[in-house]
Amino acid sequence: MTEKIRWGIVGTGRIAHLFAQGLSVLPDAQITAVASRTKEAADKFAAEFNVPNRHIGSEALAGDKDVDVVYIATPHPMHKDDTINCLKGGKAVLCEKPFAMNSSEVRAMIEYAKKNKLFLMEAMWMYFFPAMAKIREIVAAGDIGEVRLVQANFCFRREWDPKSRLLNPQLGGGALLDVGVYDIAFAQMIYVKEPMRISSMAHIGKTGVDEQGSMIFGYEDGAMAVLTCAVQTETLFESAIYGTDGYIKIPHMFFQPDKIIVKTGQEQEKEIKFKRLGNGYSYEAAEVMRCLRDGEVECPIMPLDASIAIMKTMDKIRQQWNLVYPME
Ligand SMILES: NC(=O)c1ccc[n+]([C@@H]2O[C@H](COP(=O)([O-])OP(=O)(O)OC[C@H]3O[C@@H](n4cnc5c(N)ncnc54)[C@H](OP(=O)(O)O)[C@@H]3O)[C@@H](O)[C@H]2O)c1
Repeated sequence: MTEKIRWGIVGTGRIAHLFAQGLSVLPDAQITAVASRTKEAADKFAAEFNVPNRHIGSEALAGDKDVDVVYIATPHPMHKDDTINCLKGGKAVLCEKPFAMNSSEVRAMIEYAKKNKLFLMEAMWMYFFPAMAKIREIVAAGDIGEVRLVQANFCFRREWDPKSRLLNPQLGGGALLDVGVYDIAFAQMIYVKEPMRISSMAHIGKTGVDEQGSMIFGYEDGAMAVLTCAVQTETLFESAIYGTDGYIKIPHMFFQPDKIIVKTGQEQEKEIKFKRLGNGYSYEAAEVMRCLRDGEVECPIMPLDASIAIMKTMDKIRQQWNLVYPME
C-alpha cells in the first residue's frame, strides 16, 4: 500500500461528485482514475478533481495499476457487474447502496470477493457518522432498556421525470431500493437481525415502480420497526428508537445525523450535537482506508452479512408488491 490510498471512481454523476468532494478532506486519499461511459464525461470529471487517469468503463479502470480501491457510483442495475469487474482486476471495492438489485446479485459479488480475499463493502455512509456510533453505543449499553420499536421515514418529492433514475425501471427506479434501503439498514443496525414478519404496502406508479411504500417489521420477541419511503411524497426525515427505559430520536436527516436527542430512565431529554467531517462521505471513505491499511477484507461496521440481510428483506418486500425489474 502506498502512502496515499489511490481511489478510482466509476460513474461521474451526482454522488460521484459528492464522494470525490468527501475524499478531498482526507490527506491520505488521492483520486488517480475515473471511468465513464464517455470520454467527455471522464475528462470533465477528471479536470474538476485533478484526476490523471481516465477510462471508458469499469473493466478498463480495473486494469489500472495506479488504483488501490474503486468506488462504484453507477445506477443500481450496474452495481453487480461494475463491482465484479473491479474485483477481477484485484481492486478493493466500495459500491453504492443499494448494493445491487437483489440478493442473488449481492451473493455473487460477495462470493467473488471472499474467494479472492478482496475487500468489499456497501457504501452505507449513514453507518459511519459519529452520531450513529454513539447510537450503537447507547443501545449496546442498554441505556434505553430493551429496544421495542424503531421508526424511520425517508421520503422526498422530485419533479416528475419518468426517464430519471428514480422512476425508470430500467435504471432500478423506485423508493424502496433508493431510500427505503436506509430505513431497513437503520432497523438492521439496531436489531442486528432480519425481521421475522413483514407487512408492507406500496403505490406502484405509472412507470411501474414504487413511488411510496410503508413497511412494518416484526421480530421474534414482539419488537417492531415502522418504516416509510417515497420519491414523490415529501415528509420529515426523522427516525427514533424506543426502548423499555428511554428513547433516541434523530429529528432531522437521520441518514446523515449531526444531532440526536436521548432520554434514559428518569433523566430529562438530552441533546447531543456532532461536528461533521467534510460533507459526511469522508467518514465511510476513511473507514475503508483504515480497513485496507490494516489488511481487513470486510468492514466490521458494515459487514457483508448485514448487506445480505438488508437485500433479502428488500427482496421479500418486493415480492409482496409483485415488483420485478426488467433485468431480473
Ligand atoms: N450514498 C448516497 O448518499 C447516495 C446518494 C445518491 C445516490 N446514491 C446511489 O449512487 C448511485 C448513483 O446515483 P446518482 O444519484 O449519482 O445517479 P446519477 O447522477 O444518474 O449518476 C449515475 C452515473 O452512472 C453512470 N452510468 C452508467 N451507466 C448508466 C446508465 N445506463 N444510465 C445512467 N447513468 C449511467 C453515469 O456516469 P457516466 O456518464 O460517466 O458513465 C452517471 O452519471 C445509485 O445506485 C444511488 O442509489 C447514493
